Amino acid sequence: MSVAKKSELIEEIQKWKTMRNAIILAHNYELPEIQDIADVLGDSLTLARAGMATEAEVIVFCGVHFMAETAAMLSPDKTVLLPDLEAGCSLADSITAAQLRAWKAEHPEAVVVAYVNTTAEVKAESDYCCTSSNAVQIVESIPEDQEILFLPDMFLGSYVQRVTGRKNMHIWMGECHVHAGIRAHQVESMFKKHPDAELLVHPECGCSTSGMYLMAEGALPKSRSHILSTGKMLNHLKHSPSDEFIVATETGILYQMEKQNPGKQFVPANPEAVCPFMKMTTLPKVLDALKENKHVINVPKDISEKAKRAIERMVSIG
Ligand code: 13P
Ligand code: SF4
Repeated sequence: MSVAKKSELIEEIQKWKTMRNAIILAHNYELPEIQDIADVLGDSLTLARAGMATEAEVIVFCGVHFMAETAAMLSPDKTVLLPDLEAGCSLADSITAAQLRAWKAEHPEAVVVAYVNTTAEVKAESDYCCTSSNAVQIVESIPEDQEILFLPDMFLGSYVQRVTGRKNMHIWMGECHVHAGIRAHQVESMFKKHPDAELLVHPECGCSTSGMYLMAEGALPKSRSHILSTGKMLNHLKHSPSDEFIVATETGILYQMEKQNPGKQFVPANPEAVCPFMKMTTLPKVLDALKENKHVINVPKDISEKAKRAIERMVSIG
């Protein structure tokens, strides 16, 4: 796209945004041009809270479907738009409400902690919802003798289990295809090339579980390795004295890291860790969303009523 065309589109988007009293929320993995037009850019928890807090009437959600759905449930009076309906999530697709009901029947005493990367129907079957930013605190808020079903991400689940030392936690074997592909051997080989770098790992990563063992064994430097949500990674950089970072998450976040930290070097642990769903939102689609009021995300009332308690717990903790 030419520079002139791009600035024309951005100008139109701003005009329509004002006309419709809209706000643009964007996730840290979105395309650079989408990150640049966002009123709020952040991780899942930040965006869920921003959607609730805004006085705008329309929320254009530049992220994936479950995020827009969560915003719609938290703000039933606002219009939530997802510019591309195909922007899904392989992790959210790894468990259905029927599968969860069957799992609950096997563990009738357990409470359910669902990662935000789930459909509204799955949230409606859950007691607590969490994001990568507050999963540990949510589990810690549950009485120690209470059995837990944690879903759907096995890497996040085993990270939370290790940090909390929780024994009575069952973990669903789901994964995000993007993060599962970031392996410990890739991180180790990056460390050989960048021995002074700090390591930032998203807990959904395939390397997060093995990475913790490697840290415990001293194979990865514990003091320079951090397991963080995307938002906490960006916050961490504000205070870190290091100049070089190995980043184990979806590569879209590197744009923001470089923008906010000029002169520092950011290396992806796996340059192929690209989420196709997060790249579906483009400037022309954002403009169409505003002009044509599409695609409105609505959650049936019976589902959102049931999901509300779990989601409200998520936004109130951590
Ligand atoms: P964050 O909440 O850390 O932004 O993660 C969301 C996500 O989809 C990770 O793949
Ligand atoms: Fe889903 Fe993975 Fe994409 Fe995040 S990176 S939205 S978990 S597919």
